[in-house]
Amino acid sequence: MAVCMKGKDVISIHDLSTEEVWQIVKTAEMIKMLKLSGQPYTPLVGKTLGMIFTKSSTRTRISFEVGMNQLGGHAIFLSSNDMQLKRGETITDTGRVLSGYLDGIMIRTFAHQDVVDLAAAANIPVINGLTDLLHPCQVLADLLTIYEKKGRLQGIKLTYVGDGNNMAHSLMYGGAKVGMDVDICCPEGYDPDPAVFRSAVEDAKATGAKIQVTRDPFRSVADADIIYTDVWASMGQEAEHDKKVAALQGYQVNAKLLAAAKKDTLFMHCLPAHRGEEVTDEVADGPNSVIFHQAENRLHAQKAILALVM
Ligand code: CP
Ligand code: NVA
Repeated sequence: MAVCMKGKDVISIHDLSTEEVWQIVKTAEMIKMLKLSGQPYTPLVGKTLGMIFTKSSTRTRISFEVGMNQLGGHAIFLSSNDMQLKRGETITDTGRVLSGYLDGIMIRTFAHQDVVDLAAAANIPVINGLTDLLHPCQVLADLLTIYEKKGRLQGIKLTYVGDGNNMAHSLMYGGAKVGMDVDICCPEGYDPDPAVFRSAVEDAKATGAKIQVTRDPFRSVADADIIYTDVWASMGQEAEHDKKVAALQGYQVNAKLLAAAKKDTLFMHCLPAHRGEEVTDEVADGPNSVIFHQAENRLHAQKAILALVM
């Protein structure tokens, strides 16, 4: 049964129900099919999305902007450097002002609380385009990719190898909602946030997903359907880069690790990749890799989110 999501914020997959997650995946599948068969789908004629960025982006910015155009609406890129935000206007005043002009806001920023505060102040839907804590749109698109490639989500095992960061957090939340096991395999000191881990484990009780943190990548990938990784130093952690590279050496996804997995294991990465660090070229460009398919699915999944909430 369809769930009405009009006006809903998309800040964390933890806040979505299993039905809402599936509705996004299924709507994305339908929207993708319409696009590939050349049929226009324009439910957002006359609507405008504002896109606030305080961090860099290639995929998020372009896929949201193109997505709005394809849905018949319009998107405005708002660099925080050029807004009064930079000169001290609060995020809540910004949210109230923008609510008078726009039909939705997508924001990429550092502090997760800023997105929560923006959503509380705005009376239009707010979509999280990545914070230091979470990256829900990436994972909703990834669920579409896994569903397309494996034909199911329930019972899939995903091993995330690397830093316990925003991607690890959203993957745990996503897996918990759809019954997909998620193993965050990282060295000590690079664990995911304990509060996120606990609430993902709590969410997983409803679906039976096994959410865990482990240390041995070779053991973890042995029965994994998906091997996922992300950069070792995320945006904003540039000063920690060298220290993290040293600490995460044993967690590179390379041919040797892939050889320890099943033949049909998929390799996934949200991109951008730091080739030679968390992943080697032979894996990123090899036959198990679906990284560019994933990047394309950002467009289709986000069009689904926009069409459902705006
Ligand atoms: N994966 C992702 O969000 O990419 P961008 O940083 O290019 O938006
Ligand atoms: N963890 C990365 C994801 C980039 C899409 C970062 O936050 O920089």
